[in-house]
Amino acid sequence: MEKIIIHGGKKLKGKVSISGAKNSILELIPAALLTKEEVVLTNVPNLKDVKTFVQLISELGAQIDWDLESNTMRIKTPEITNTKASYDIVKTMRASVYVLGPLLGRARSAKVSFPGGCVIGSRPIDVHLRAMEALGADIQIKHGYIIGNAPIDSNGEKRLIGSTIDGKVREQDGIVITTHGGTVNAIMAAVLANGKTVIKNASLEPEVDDLMGMLNKMGAKIKRDINKKGVPLIIIEGVKELHGCEHSVMPDRLEAGTYAIAAAITKGKIRIQNTDTSKMGVFLDKLKDAGIVFEDKGSELIVDGSKSYAKGTNIKVEPYPGFPTDMQSQFMTLMTVAEGQSKIEEPIFENRLMYVSEFQRMGAKIKIVDKNRATFKGVDKLTAADVMASDLRAGASLVLAGLVAEGETIVHRSYHISRGYVGFVDNLKKLGADIKYSYEKPCL
Ligand code: EPU
Repeated sequence: MEKIIIHGGKKLKGKVSISGAKNSILELIPAALLTKEEVVLTNVPNLKDVKTFVQLISELGAQIDWDLESNTMRIKTPEITNTKASYDIVKTMRASVYVLGPLLGRARSAKVSFPGGCVIGSRPIDVHLRAMEALGADIQIKHGYIIGNAPIDSNGEKRLIGSTIDGKVREQDGIVITTHGGTVNAIMAAVLANGKTVIKNASLEPEVDDLMGMLNKMGAKIKRDINKKGVPLIIIEGVKELHGCEHSVMPDRLEAGTYAIAAAITKGKIRIQNTDTSKMGVFLDKLKDAGIVFEDKGSELIVDGSKSYAKGTNIKVEPYPGFPTDMQSQFMTLMTVAEGQSKIEEPIFENRLMYVSEFQRMGAKIKIVDKNRATFKGVDKLTAADVMASDLRAGASLVLAGLVAEGETIVHRSYHISRGYVGFVDNLKKLGADIKYSYEKPCL
Protein backbone atom coordinates (compact mmCIF):
# COMPACT_ATOMS: atom_id res chain seq x y z
CA MET A 1 0.00 0.00 0.00
CA GLU A 2 1.23 3.44 -0.98
CA LYS A 3 1.57 6.22 1.60
CA ILE A 4 2.95 9.75 1.51
CA ILE A 5 5.32 11.06 4.17
CA ILE A 6 5.64 14.81 4.68
CA HIS A 7 7.74 16.89 7.05
CA GLY A 8 5.93 20.20 7.31
CA GLY A 9 7.32 23.69 7.47
CA LYS A 10 8.75 24.42 4.02
CA LYS A 11 7.55 27.45 2.04
CA LEU A 12 6.79 26.29 -1.49
CA LYS A 13 8.32 28.33 -4.30
CA GLY A 14 8.59 27.97 -8.05
CA LYS A 15 6.51 26.97 -11.07
CA VAL A 16 4.08 24.17 -11.71
CA SER A 17 2.43 23.25 -15.00
CA ILE A 18 -1.21 22.19 -14.92
CA SER A 19 -2.30 19.02 -16.74
CA GLY A 20 -5.40 18.29 -18.76
CA ALA A 21 -8.55 18.02 -16.66
CA LYS A 22 -9.38 14.60 -15.21
CA ASN A 23 -13.11 15.29 -15.35
CA SER A 24 -12.84 16.26 -19.03
CA ILE A 25 -10.69 13.41 -20.31
CA LEU A 26 -13.01 10.88 -18.64
CA GLU A 27 -15.80 12.23 -20.88
CA LEU A 28 -13.76 12.75 -24.04
CA ILE A 29 -12.47 9.16 -24.15
CA PRO A 30 -15.94 7.54 -24.21
CA ALA A 31 -17.12 10.24 -26.67
CA ALA A 32 -14.45 8.97 -29.10
CA LEU A 33 -16.44 5.71 -29.28
CA LEU A 34 -19.12 7.62 -31.21
CA THR A 35 -17.18 7.56 -34.48
CA LYS A 36 -15.36 4.96 -36.55
CA GLU A 37 -12.76 7.57 -37.48
CA GLU A 38 -9.69 8.54 -35.48
CA VAL A 39 -9.97 10.99 -32.58
CA VAL A 40 -6.70 12.61 -31.48
CA LEU A 41 -6.61 13.97 -27.95
CA THR A 42 -3.76 16.19 -26.79
CA ASN A 43 -2.88 17.44 -23.27
CA VAL A 44 -3.98 14.04 -21.93
CA PRO A 45 -3.18 13.70 -18.21
CA ASN A 46 -1.26 10.59 -17.19
CA LEU A 47 -3.63 9.41 -14.47
CA LYS A 48 -4.69 6.06 -13.08
CA ASP A 49 -8.35 6.68 -14.01
CA VAL A 50 -7.33 7.41 -17.60
CA LYS A 51 -5.47 4.07 -17.78
CA THR A 52 -8.57 2.33 -16.45
CA PHE A 53 -10.73 4.01 -19.10
CA VAL A 54 -8.29 3.03 -21.84
CA GLN A 55 -8.57 -0.59 -20.73
CA LEU A 56 -12.37 -0.34 -20.70
CA ILE A 57 -12.76 1.09 -24.21
CA SER A 58 -10.19 -1.32 -25.64
CA GLU A 59 -12.46 -4.13 -24.42
CA LEU A 60 -15.29 -2.50 -26.40
CA GLY A 61 -13.30 -2.49 -29.66
CA ALA A 62 -11.29 0.75 -29.56
CA GLN A 63 -7.68 0.82 -30.73
CA ILE A 64 -5.65 3.19 -28.60
CA ASP A 65 -2.20 4.63 -29.01
CA TRP A 66 -1.20 6.77 -26.00
CA ASP A 67 2.14 8.57 -26.30
CA LEU A 68 3.10 9.53 -22.74
CA GLU A 69 5.95 11.77 -23.96
CA SER A 70 3.70 14.09 -25.93
CA ASN A 71 0.54 13.48 -23.83
CA THR A 72 -1.25 12.54 -27.05
CA MET A 73 -3.81 9.78 -27.36
CA ARG A 74 -5.16 8.41 -30.64
CA ILE A 75 -8.40 6.47 -30.44
CA LYS A 76 -9.96 4.62 -33.36
CA THR A 77 -13.00 2.39 -33.09
CA PRO A 78 -13.81 1.00 -36.55
CA GLU A 79 -16.46 -1.14 -34.91
CA ILE A 80 -17.90 -1.65 -31.44
CA THR A 81 -17.05 -5.30 -31.00
CA ASN A 82 -18.48 -5.73 -27.49
CA THR A 83 -21.20 -3.78 -25.71
CA LYS A 84 -20.52 -5.04 -22.20
CA ALA A 85 -18.73 -2.97 -19.55
CA SER A 86 -18.01 -5.50 -16.84
CA TYR A 87 -18.29 -5.15 -13.08
CA ASP A 88 -14.52 -5.70 -12.70
CA ILE A 89 -13.79 -2.36 -14.35
CA VAL A 90 -16.86 -0.31 -13.45
CA LYS A 91 -16.41 -1.06 -9.74
CA THR A 92 -12.97 0.62 -9.82
CA MET A 93 -14.17 3.84 -11.46
CA ARG A 94 -17.67 5.33 -11.42
CA ALA A 95 -17.04 7.34 -14.59
CA SER A 96 -17.10 4.01 -16.50
CA VAL A 97 -20.87 4.49 -16.61
CA TYR A 98 -20.13 7.16 -19.28
CA VAL A 99 -19.93 4.36 -21.86
CA LEU A 100 -23.70 3.84 -21.53
CA GLY A 101 -24.65 6.85 -23.69
CA PRO A 102 -22.12 6.22 -26.51
CA LEU A 103 -22.92 2.49 -26.64
CA LEU A 104 -26.67 3.14 -26.88
CA GLY A 105 -26.04 5.93 -29.39
CA ARG A 106 -23.70 4.07 -31.73
CA ALA A 107 -24.12 0.32 -31.08
CA ARG A 108 -27.80 0.80 -30.15
CA SER A 109 -27.46 -1.55 -27.17
CA ALA A 110 -25.42 -1.71 -23.99
CA LYS A 111 -24.78 -3.87 -20.96
CA VAL A 112 -23.03 -1.83 -18.31
CA SER A 113 -22.37 -2.87 -14.74
CA PHE A 114 -24.32 -0.82 -12.20
CA PRO A 115 -21.81 1.35 -10.33
CA GLY A 116 -22.00 1.13 -6.55
CA GLY A 117 -21.99 3.92 -4.00
CA CYS A 118 -18.73 5.47 -2.92
CA VAL A 119 -17.20 7.08 0.06
CA ILE A 120 -18.34 10.66 -0.75
CA GLY A 121 -22.00 9.63 -1.01
CA SER A 122 -24.46 7.13 -2.46
CA ARG A 123 -24.18 8.69 -5.95
CA PRO A 124 -27.22 7.20 -7.69
CA ILE A 125 -27.53 7.19 -11.49
CA ASP A 126 -31.32 7.46 -11.73
CA VAL A 127 -31.12 10.65 -13.83
CA HIS A 128 -28.71 8.96 -16.32
CA LEU A 129 -31.19 6.11 -16.71
CA ARG A 130 -34.22 8.42 -16.98
CA ALA A 131 -32.40 10.28 -19.76
CA MET A 132 -31.83 7.06 -21.73
CA GLU A 133 -35.49 6.12 -21.24
CA ALA A 134 -36.60 9.58 -22.38
CA LEU A 135 -34.65 8.90 -25.61
CA GLY A 136 -36.79 5.79 -26.04
CA ALA A 137 -34.34 3.19 -24.74
CA ASP A 138 -35.63 0.14 -22.98
CA ILE A 139 -33.67 -0.04 -19.72
CA GLN A 140 -33.65 -3.13 -17.50
CA ILE A 141 -31.56 -3.81 -14.42
CA LYS A 142 -30.61 -7.47 -14.27
CA HIS A 143 -27.96 -9.25 -12.19
CA GLY A 144 -26.20 -5.97 -11.38
CA TYR A 145 -26.15 -4.78 -15.00
CA ILE A 146 -27.96 -1.99 -16.83
CA ILE A 147 -29.22 -3.56 -20.02
CA GLY A 148 -30.24 -0.98 -22.58
CA ASN A 149 -31.68 -1.20 -26.07
CA ALA A 150 -32.55 1.60 -28.46
CA PRO A 151 -36.15 1.71 -29.79
CA ILE A 152 -37.26 1.34 -33.40
CA ASP A 153 -37.66 4.85 -34.83
CA SER A 154 -40.09 6.15 -37.47
CA ASN A 155 -37.77 4.88 -40.24
CA GLY A 156 -37.90 1.36 -38.86
CA GLU A 157 -34.32 1.71 -37.64
CA LYS A 158 -33.08 0.72 -34.16
CA ARG A 159 -32.00 4.17 -33.00
CA LEU A 160 -32.53 6.54 -30.04
CA ILE A 161 -35.17 9.23 -30.58
CA GLY A 162 -34.64 12.91 -29.68
CA SER A 163 -36.66 14.06 -26.67
CA THR A 164 -36.77 16.32 -23.59
CA ILE A 165 -34.60 15.37 -20.63
CA ASP A 166 -34.47 16.95 -17.17
CA GLY A 167 -31.04 17.05 -15.50
CA LYS A 168 -32.42 18.28 -12.17
CA VAL A 169 -31.56 15.98 -9.27
CA ARG A 170 -33.26 17.83 -6.40
CA GLU A 171 -33.67 21.25 -4.82
CA GLN A 172 -31.79 21.73 -1.59
CA ASP A 173 -31.32 24.83 0.57
CA GLY A 174 -32.75 26.96 -2.22
CA ILE A 175 -30.48 25.68 -5.00
CA VAL A 176 -31.18 23.38 -7.91
CA ILE A 177 -28.72 20.47 -7.88
CA THR A 178 -28.03 19.33 -11.43
CA THR A 179 -26.01 16.32 -12.55
CA HIS A 180 -22.73 16.67 -14.35
CA GLY A 181 -22.45 12.97 -15.23
CA GLY A 182 -26.12 12.67 -16.16
CA THR A 183 -25.78 15.63 -18.53
CA VAL A 184 -22.68 14.08 -20.11
CA ASN A 185 -24.32 10.68 -20.65
CA ALA A 186 -27.44 12.32 -22.07
CA ILE A 187 -25.42 14.41 -24.56
CA MET A 188 -23.41 11.40 -25.74
CA ALA A 189 -26.59 9.37 -26.23
CA ALA A 190 -28.50 12.17 -27.99
CA VAL A 191 -25.89 13.23 -30.58
CA LEU A 192 -26.66 10.26 -32.81
CA ALA A 193 -30.39 10.14 -32.01
CA ASN A 194 -33.11 10.73 -34.58
CA GLY A 195 -34.31 14.32 -34.01
CA LYS A 196 -33.89 17.10 -31.50
CA THR A 197 -33.13 16.71 -27.79
CA VAL A 198 -33.46 19.43 -25.14
CA ILE A 199 -31.73 18.89 -21.80
CA LYS A 200 -33.34 21.14 -19.17
CA ASN A 201 -31.42 21.97 -15.99
CA ALA A 202 -28.24 20.97 -17.81
CA SER A 203 -24.98 21.05 -15.82
CA LEU A 204 -23.02 24.26 -16.43
CA GLU A 205 -19.65 22.73 -15.54
CA PRO A 206 -16.89 23.76 -17.99
CA GLU A 207 -15.87 20.14 -18.57
CA VAL A 208 -19.32 19.66 -20.16
CA ASP A 209 -18.46 22.53 -22.55
CA ASP A 210 -15.18 20.81 -23.35
CA LEU A 211 -17.12 17.70 -24.33
CA MET A 212 -19.60 19.74 -26.40
CA GLY A 213 -16.70 21.48 -28.12
CA MET A 214 -15.11 18.19 -29.12
CA LEU A 215 -18.39 16.64 -30.29
CA ASN A 216 -19.15 19.73 -32.40
CA LYS A 217 -15.72 19.33 -34.06
CA MET A 218 -16.82 15.75 -34.80
CA GLY A 219 -19.90 17.04 -36.64
CA ALA A 220 -22.43 17.10 -33.78
CA LYS A 221 -24.90 19.98 -33.46
CA ILE A 222 -24.97 21.00 -29.81
CA LYS A 223 -25.49 24.40 -28.23
CA ARG A 224 -26.30 25.94 -24.87
CA ASP A 225 -29.32 28.13 -24.33
CA ILE A 226 -31.46 29.41 -21.48
CA ASN A 227 -35.27 29.44 -21.31
CA LYS A 228 -37.57 32.30 -20.25
CA LYS A 229 -37.49 31.12 -16.62
CA GLY A 230 -33.68 31.23 -16.63
CA VAL A 231 -33.31 27.43 -16.75
CA PRO A 232 -30.07 26.35 -18.47
CA LEU A 233 -30.63 24.21 -21.56
CA ILE A 234 -28.50 22.16 -23.90
CA ILE A 235 -30.02 21.65 -27.35
CA ILE A 236 -28.85 18.81 -29.56
CA GLU A 237 -29.89 18.20 -33.18
CA GLY A 238 -29.20 14.52 -33.76
CA VAL A 239 -26.97 13.60 -36.74
CA LYS A 240 -26.53 10.32 -38.65
CA GLU A 241 -22.82 9.96 -37.99
CA LEU A 242 -19.80 11.69 -36.55
CA HIS A 243 -16.26 11.96 -37.87
CA GLY A 244 -12.78 12.15 -36.34
CA CYS A 245 -11.15 15.27 -34.95
CA GLU A 246 -8.26 16.60 -32.90
CA HIS A 247 -8.96 18.14 -29.51
CA SER A 248 -6.88 19.48 -26.65
CA VAL A 249 -8.14 18.64 -23.15
CA MET A 250 -8.93 21.78 -21.09
CA PRO A 251 -6.63 22.53 -18.13
CA ASP A 252 -7.61 21.07 -14.77
CA ARG A 253 -9.13 23.90 -12.72
CA LEU A 254 -9.18 21.71 -9.59
CA GLU A 255 -5.49 20.87 -9.85
CA ALA A 256 -4.72 24.60 -10.29
CA GLY A 257 -6.84 25.46 -7.25
CA THR A 258 -5.07 22.84 -5.15
CA TYR A 259 -1.63 24.38 -5.92
CA ALA A 260 -3.07 27.83 -5.14
CA ILE A 261 -3.93 26.57 -1.65
CA ALA A 262 -0.44 24.99 -1.37
CA ALA A 263 1.13 28.42 -1.96
CA ALA A 264 -1.26 30.17 0.42
CA ILE A 265 -1.00 27.69 3.29
CA THR A 266 2.83 27.41 3.20
CA LYS A 267 3.24 31.19 2.78
CA GLY A 268 5.24 30.53 -0.37
CA LYS A 269 4.88 31.75 -3.93
CA ILE A 270 3.84 29.52 -6.81
CA ARG A 271 3.42 30.36 -10.49
CA ILE A 272 0.65 28.07 -11.68
CA GLN A 273 1.06 27.78 -15.44
CA ASN A 274 -0.94 26.40 -18.38
CA THR A 275 -4.20 27.03 -16.59
CA ASP A 276 -7.40 28.90 -17.43
CA THR A 277 -8.49 31.16 -14.59
CA SER A 278 -11.74 32.10 -16.36
CA LYS A 279 -13.07 28.70 -15.15
CA MET A 280 -12.10 29.37 -11.52
CA GLY A 281 -14.35 32.38 -10.75
CA VAL A 282 -15.98 31.82 -7.34
CA PHE A 283 -12.99 29.91 -6.00
CA LEU A 284 -10.73 32.89 -6.79
CA ASP A 285 -13.28 35.30 -5.27
CA LYS A 286 -13.24 33.30 -2.05
CA LEU A 287 -9.44 33.12 -2.07
CA LYS A 288 -9.40 36.89 -2.27
CA ASP A 289 -11.99 37.20 0.53
CA ALA A 290 -9.72 34.97 2.61
CA GLY A 291 -6.92 37.53 2.25
CA ILE A 292 -4.77 35.59 -0.20
CA VAL A 293 -2.75 37.71 -2.61
CA PHE A 294 -2.62 36.54 -6.22
CA GLU A 295 -2.12 37.81 -9.72
CA ASP A 296 -4.50 36.51 -12.35
CA LYS A 297 -2.92 36.43 -15.80
CA GLY A 298 -5.49 34.19 -17.45
CA SER A 299 -3.29 31.26 -18.41
CA GLU A 300 -1.09 31.79 -15.36
CA LEU A 301 -2.05 32.30 -11.71
CA ILE A 302 0.63 33.59 -9.37
CA VAL A 303 -0.26 33.02 -5.73
CA ASP A 304 1.88 34.82 -3.16
CA GLY A 305 1.32 33.39 0.29
CA SER A 306 4.25 35.36 1.69
CA LYS A 307 2.19 38.54 1.38
CA SER A 308 -1.05 36.93 2.59
CA TYR A 309 -2.72 36.62 6.00
CA ALA A 310 -5.42 34.00 5.74
CA LYS A 311 -8.64 34.87 7.54
CA GLY A 312 -11.77 32.86 8.22
CA THR A 313 -14.18 32.76 5.25
CA ASN A 314 -17.52 31.02 4.80
CA ILE A 315 -18.25 28.89 1.78
CA LYS A 316 -21.36 27.28 0.40
CA VAL A 317 -20.79 24.61 -2.23
CA GLU A 318 -23.06 24.86 -5.28
CA PRO A 319 -23.12 23.46 -8.80
CA TYR A 320 -20.97 25.47 -11.26
CA PRO A 321 -20.59 28.46 -11.43
CA GLY A 322 -20.84 28.22 -7.61
CA PHE A 323 -18.05 27.11 -5.31
CA PRO A 324 -16.93 23.62 -6.47
CA THR A 325 -17.48 20.60 -4.24
CA ASP A 326 -14.13 19.32 -5.53
CA MET A 327 -12.34 22.30 -3.94
CA GLN A 328 -14.08 22.52 -0.58
CA SER A 329 -11.75 20.24 1.41
CA GLN A 330 -8.62 22.02 0.09
CA PHE A 331 -10.09 25.46 0.87
CA MET A 332 -11.12 24.33 4.32
CA THR A 333 -7.58 23.04 4.93
CA LEU A 334 -6.47 26.65 4.57
CA MET A 335 -9.25 27.67 6.95
CA THR A 336 -7.96 25.29 9.66
CA VAL A 337 -4.98 27.66 10.09
CA ALA A 338 -6.67 30.96 9.14
CA GLU A 339 -7.41 33.65 11.68
CA GLY A 340 -10.96 33.44 13.04
CA GLN A 341 -14.00 31.34 12.22
CA SER A 342 -15.28 29.78 9.00
CA LYS A 343 -18.39 27.88 8.01
CA ILE A 344 -18.90 25.38 5.25
CA GLU A 345 -22.06 24.01 3.68
CA GLU A 346 -21.82 21.02 1.33
CA PRO A 347 -25.22 20.16 -0.14
CA ILE A 348 -23.98 18.14 -3.15
CA PHE A 349 -22.43 14.97 -1.69
CA GLU A 350 -23.78 13.79 1.65
CA ASN A 351 -20.52 12.30 2.96
CA ARG A 352 -18.06 14.85 1.73
CA LEU A 353 -17.23 16.14 5.20
CA MET A 354 -15.93 12.71 6.23
CA TYR A 355 -12.38 14.03 6.14
CA VAL A 356 -13.05 16.19 9.21
CA SER A 357 -12.08 13.48 11.72
CA GLU A 358 -8.64 13.13 10.08
CA PHE A 359 -8.05 16.87 10.40
CA GLN A 360 -9.11 16.73 14.04
CA ARG A 361 -6.28 14.20 14.56
CA MET A 362 -3.94 16.96 13.39
CA GLY A 363 -5.29 19.45 15.93
CA ALA A 364 -7.77 21.29 13.68
CA LYS A 365 -10.75 22.78 15.50
CA ILE A 366 -13.73 21.71 13.41
CA LYS A 367 -17.27 21.07 14.60
CA ILE A 368 -19.73 19.15 12.48
CA VAL A 369 -23.06 20.95 12.82
CA ASP A 370 -24.94 18.36 10.81
CA LYS A 371 -24.06 16.04 7.94
CA ASN A 372 -23.70 18.94 5.48
CA ARG A 373 -22.38 21.75 7.68
CA ALA A 374 -19.24 22.35 9.70
CA THR A 375 -17.64 25.26 11.52
CA PHE A 376 -13.89 25.84 11.70
CA LYS A 377 -11.88 27.86 14.19
CA GLY A 378 -8.36 28.58 12.96
CA VAL A 379 -5.47 27.28 15.07
CA ASP A 380 -1.88 28.59 15.14
CA LYS A 381 -0.43 25.24 14.14
CA LEU A 382 -1.47 21.81 12.97
CA THR A 383 0.44 18.86 14.43
CA ALA A 384 1.54 15.95 12.27
CA ALA A 385 -0.23 12.61 12.57
CA ASP A 386 -0.98 9.36 10.75
CA VAL A 387 -4.07 10.09 8.68
CA MET A 388 -6.14 8.25 6.11
CA ALA A 389 -7.21 9.55 2.67
CA SER A 390 -10.87 8.66 2.16
CA ASP A 391 -11.09 10.00 -1.40
CA LEU A 392 -9.08 11.91 -3.97
CA ARG A 393 -9.76 15.49 -2.82
CA ALA A 394 -9.65 14.68 0.90
CA GLY A 395 -6.32 12.92 0.26
CA ALA A 396 -4.83 15.96 -1.49
CA SER A 397 -6.10 18.13 1.37
CA LEU A 398 -4.39 15.99 3.99
CA VAL A 399 -1.13 16.42 2.05
CA LEU A 400 -1.71 20.20 2.08
CA ALA A 401 -2.22 20.03 5.85
CA GLY A 402 0.96 17.96 6.19
CA LEU A 403 2.92 20.70 4.38
CA VAL A 404 2.37 23.03 7.36
CA ALA A 405 1.99 20.58 10.25
CA GLU A 406 4.70 20.35 12.86
CA GLY A 407 6.48 16.98 12.54
CA GLU A 408 5.97 13.98 10.26
CA THR A 409 2.57 13.46 8.64
CA ILE A 410 1.84 10.11 7.05
CA VAL A 411 -1.06 10.05 4.60
CA HIS A 412 -2.22 6.45 4.24
CA ARG A 413 -4.24 5.16 1.26
CA SER A 414 -2.63 7.87 -0.85
CA TYR A 415 -3.35 5.88 -4.05
CA HIS A 416 -6.58 7.91 -4.24
CA ILE A 417 -4.49 10.99 -5.08
CA SER A 418 -2.88 9.50 -8.21
CA ARG A 419 -6.39 8.99 -9.61
CA GLY A 420 -6.68 12.74 -10.12
CA TYR A 421 -3.33 14.56 -9.76
CA VAL A 422 -0.46 14.04 -12.19
CA GLY A 423 2.88 13.79 -10.32
CA PHE A 424 1.53 15.44 -7.16
CA VAL A 425 4.37 14.35 -4.88
CA ASP A 426 7.09 15.09 -7.48
CA ASN A 427 5.63 18.53 -8.20
CA LEU A 428 5.46 19.43 -4.50
CA LYS A 429 9.03 18.19 -4.05
CA LYS A 430 10.20 20.40 -6.94
CA LEU A 431 8.46 23.33 -5.23
CA GLY A 432 10.56 22.66 -2.12
CA ALA A 433 8.36 20.38 0.01
CA ASP A 434 9.94 17.66 2.14
CA ILE A 435 7.73 14.88 0.83
CA LYS A 436 8.12 11.32 -0.42
CA TYR A 437 6.25 8.14 -1.22
CA SER A 438 6.68 5.05 0.88
CA TYR A 439 5.26 1.58 0.35
CA GLU A 440 4.02 -0.77 3.02
CA LYS A 441 2.86 -4.34 2.79
CA PRO A 442 -0.90 -4.65 3.20
CA CYS A 443 -2.13 -6.35 6.41
CA LEU A 444 -3.21 -9.88 5.60
N1 EPU B 1 -27.18 12.44 -8.53
C1 EPU B 1 -28.36 11.73 -8.41
N2 EPU B 1 -28.76 10.99 -9.48
C2 EPU B 1 -28.05 10.92 -10.63
C3 EPU B 1 -26.85 11.66 -10.75
C4 EPU B 1 -26.45 12.41 -9.67
O1 EPU B 1 -29.01 11.76 -7.37
O2 EPU B 1 -28.48 10.21 -11.57
C5 EPU B 1 -26.74 13.29 -7.41
C6 EPU B 1 -25.41 12.90 -6.80
O3 EPU B 1 -25.56 11.88 -5.84
C7 EPU B 1 -24.94 14.21 -6.20
C8 EPU B 1 -25.45 15.24 -7.22
O4 EPU B 1 -26.49 14.59 -7.93
O5 EPU B 1 -25.61 14.43 -5.00
C9 EPU B 1 -24.44 15.73 -8.21
O6 EPU B 1 -23.74 14.63 -8.80
P1 EPU B 1 -23.13 14.67 -10.27
O7 EPU B 1 -23.87 13.69 -11.11
O8 EPU B 1 -23.06 16.08 -10.74
O9 EPU B 1 -21.65 14.15 -10.01
P2 EPU B 1 -20.83 13.18 -10.96
O10 EPU B 1 -21.11 13.46 -12.36
O11 EPU B 1 -20.98 11.77 -10.48
C10 EPU B 1 -18.76 14.70 -11.36
C11 EPU B 1 -17.28 14.62 -11.06
C12 EPU B 1 -17.07 14.75 -9.57
C13 EPU B 1 -17.65 16.08 -9.11
C14 EPU B 1 -19.14 16.19 -9.51
C15 EPU B 1 -19.72 17.55 -9.22
C16 EPU B 1 -16.40 13.23 -12.81
C17 EPU B 1 -15.79 11.94 -13.20
N3 EPU B 1 -16.76 13.35 -11.54
O12 EPU B 1 -19.36 13.62 -10.64
O13 EPU B 1 -15.66 14.75 -9.38
O14 EPU B 1 -17.53 16.18 -7.71
O15 EPU B 1 -19.28 15.95 -10.93
O16 EPU B 1 -18.99 18.55 -9.82
O17 EPU B 1 -16.52 14.13 -13.61
C18 EPU B 1 -13.64 14.55 -8.19
O18 EPU B 1 -13.09 14.99 -9.20
O19 EPU B 1 -13.05 14.40 -7.09
C19 EPU B 1 -15.07 14.19 -8.29
C20 EPU B 1 -15.70 13.45 -7.39
